[in-house]
Amino acid sequence: MPSIRLGIVGKGGVGKTTVAGLVARAYVERGQRVVAIDTDSNPNLGLSLGLTLAETEDVPVLPRSIIVGSGGSTTADRLIAEYGRETPAGPTLLSAIRVAEAGAGCTCGGHATVRGMLADALSDVDVVLVDMEAGLEHLSRSGGTLAYADVLLVVCEPTRKSVLTATRTSALADELGIPVTLAVGNKAQSAEDADFFADTLNDNGLSLAAVLPFDPQIAAADRGGADEDAVTPAALTAAVEQILAAVADTRAAVG
Ligand SMILES: Nc1ncnc2c1ncn2[C@@H]1O[C@H](COP(=O)(O)OP(=O)(O)O)[C@@H](O)[C@H]1O
Ligand SMILES: [Mg+2]
Repeated sequence: MPSIRLGIVGKGGVGKTTVAGLVARAYVERGQRVVAIDTDSNPNLGLSLGLTLAETEDVPVLPRSIIVGSGGSTTADRLIAEYGRETPAGPTLLSAIRVAEAGAGCTCGGHATVRGMLADALSDVDVVLVDMEAGLEHLSRSGGTLAYADVLLVVCEPTRKSVLTATRTSALADELGIPVTLAVGNKAQSAEDADFFADTLNDNGLSLAAVLPFDPQIAAADRGGADEDAVTPAALTAAVEQILAAVADTRAAVG
């Protein structure tokens, strides 16, 4: 079974990192070996995987513009061994991009490395998950970071703007040749919110994998007031299971 490569995308603040952390944990709980790659220039996926802020900041950043695999100087396996950090939640974390100083230049080199990692063969890894920084430029045809993703999860909150971003993202994903895009509704506070996701995403031709409820404990964990490990309301767990099931279904369909 080849590894599944998942890209997590969407408008800023919709919950990409939160969903990436939950999905990564869920795969680990199923006995899968997971590599999670943070491409945010202000990386915080480590926090969602149980690292402290200091530990998250200490994760070494992948070298830029590395040509990985055939013809390159290294392999994705070797980059994981050298730059990956184990997290309390289980996934191995890689940090691809960090903007530590103002005016430090563009982040294209880091994106090129991630693209190469996804393109290369991986031994021993079941799931590679990329928490993408907000913005659509990294799905452009020239060098799209996620060109080799198998499935894109596009996260939305119950707002028109985030659904609009999801629609644009899905169109770009099609152009890039990513086989499957699934929408994830996040921060639903009412039945109206759930209906909003179902209606607007379907109208735009996107299939909705799951709706995650707004959970005050997630917000509290983000403020440092709660342990993220304690955050597992049944509705949230069920929604994350639906995401994994939807990914498995589409994989079976695509073959
Ligand atoms: N289901 C949820 N319930 C409550 N708060 C959430 C939920 N999902 C995300 N959040 C909060 O929304 C904010 C943005 O989430 P984050 O995952 O960092 O988004 P992104 O990575 O898309 O920028 C954070 O404060 C996070 O704690
Ligand atoms: Mg984020």
